[in-house]
Amino acid sequence: MTRAMGNRPACGSGRWAGHWQQRADVVVIGTGVAGLVAALAAHRRGRKVVVLSKTGDTATFYAQGGIAVVLPDALRDAGDSVDAHVADTLAAGAGLCDPDAVRSIVSDGYRAVRELVDEGARFDESASGSWALTREGGHSRRRIIHAGGDATGAEVQRALNGAATTLDIRHNHVAVELLHEAGAVTGVLVLNEDGPGVVHAPSVILASGGLGHLYSATTNPDGSTGDGVALAMWAGVAVSDLEFIQFHPTMLFDGDNAGRRPLITEAVRGEGARLVDSQGRSVTAGVHPMGDLAPRDVVAAAIHARLEETGAPCVFLDARGIDGFATRFPTVTAACRAAGIDPLLEAIPVVPGAHYSCGGVLTDVHGRTELAGLFAAGEVARTGMHGANRLASNSLLEGLVVGVRAGKAAVAHALDAGPVTAAPPEPAVRRALPRRDLQRAMTKHAGVVRDADGLRLLAKELDTARPRPIDSRATFEDVALTTVATGVAAAAMARTESRGCHHRSDFPDAEGQFARSLIAAGACC
Ligand code: SIN
Repeated sequence: MTRAMGNRPACGSGRWAGHWQQRADVVVIGTGVAGLVAALAAHRRGRKVVVLSKTGDTATFYAQGGIAVVLPDALRDAGDSVDAHVADTLAAGAGLCDPDAVRSIVSDGYRAVRELVDEGARFDESASGSWALTREGGHSRRRIIHAGGDATGAEVQRALNGAATTLDIRHNHVAVELLHEAGAVTGVLVLNEDGPGVVHAPSVILASGGLGHLYSATTNPDGSTGDGVALAMWAGVAVSDLEFIQFHPTMLFDGDNAGRRPLITEAVRGEGARLVDSQGRSVTAGVHPMGDLAPRDVVAAAIHARLEETGAPCVFLDARGIDGFATRFPTVTAACRAAGIDPLLEAIPVVPGAHYSCGGVLTDVHGRTELAGLFAAGEVARTGMHGANRLASNSLLEGLVVGVRAGKAAVAHALDAGPVTAAPPEPAVRRALPRRDLQRAMTKHAGVVRDADGLRLLAKELDTARPRPIDSRATFEDVALTTVATGVAAAAMARTESRGCHHRSDFPDAEGQFARSLIAAGACC
């Protein structure tokens, strides 16, 4: 059942005056791939599950390229194997992946995809009737399954939304604080149109997605404001690898580079498109042996360097040589045409754009955090899968695999812990910068390339944040963004080297002593 609103303020009672109250075994925050598979796994084990949805929009829906997965022998690209997928993931992750986590998630990929098919997802097929496979940056083999050409996320979301009609989903509910006592979760403080309320629950799963709106322009939907990372930081739960923000090399550039901008999937390069500057010169020639299909941190940095060198506002993706482009890439074609660009006749203007947080709330491969009863899955989590740079199309894979595991682990914890009652929360007042100022400062000083001077200016600006009561979605998002920006800035300053998608112009090389993740714990702001 999907319920829109319908919580009433609790009557009378002193301690809880002004708060509505609900109970659940498991609360899931987010309705993308990780959130819905987690919620379904918990619901099917007979638990009372409440799913909180802030905007109803998810990053999953916008995913284009596909799901990286090693298929059974007869169906896979010649020479592909779990070992090869693990090796590509580790290479992209630049020394910071947890190899055991990578192997665990990659090995479970095909099973997780079959479960998604059981939920109703359909993937594109080749003439032989087996799944069509494409390639993206950093992959040594064709191993990416896709749907609707370049609308994989929309298909995944469609299938899961169909299955989720059995779930209790609360729309326009914003989780604003994790409640915990004696080292264990007791519930979530939530804002809805009735005001603040509490869902008492022993298990909470963060599946709230990413943080692209730290920047002025991003491929992420509006709700990607770092909520889960901020909630964890306020609860004193460890977060890690926050400096590794992945800039997708090819976000559409149409002059109006603010807010959510369309992605031009890497699969376009996988099918043969070339990245060139305004003079028609290759952007990646001589940069990496894989050329335009190098891992995306390498390609994004090469574009950034070319833009600095030429002063041009964008580079171009020339896809005119791809047969049947409009059929293979209908989403990209429509986005280009909406911006007045015909990709069949002209090269597509692109720039790197904030796309994915490789770091997040520190978890194991079952989504368990260091706080009993708190789980995280999907982009909000840092499982060790992505290291310093996520391999393309590994995110839906991770969300599927870890989401289900987190749902099961949350049920086990809820059964173990039994019913809990949260203490009434103190009214939260936290610091926030005005959003546009924060985005401008992050874009200028913590973008594709950073340095100590810029990061110092960023920290100074963040220090001017003013206390704001958290009384609406907007103020919650502003404080969440400010908290997370503070974490990103500190991590980027501390990592005095370049590695993966963290490029320091003042420390251009990787340094052996930094071949480890930085972990931050504790509250700020
Ligand atoms: C893309 O289609 O290029 C994006 C896929 C991803 O972020 O993994």
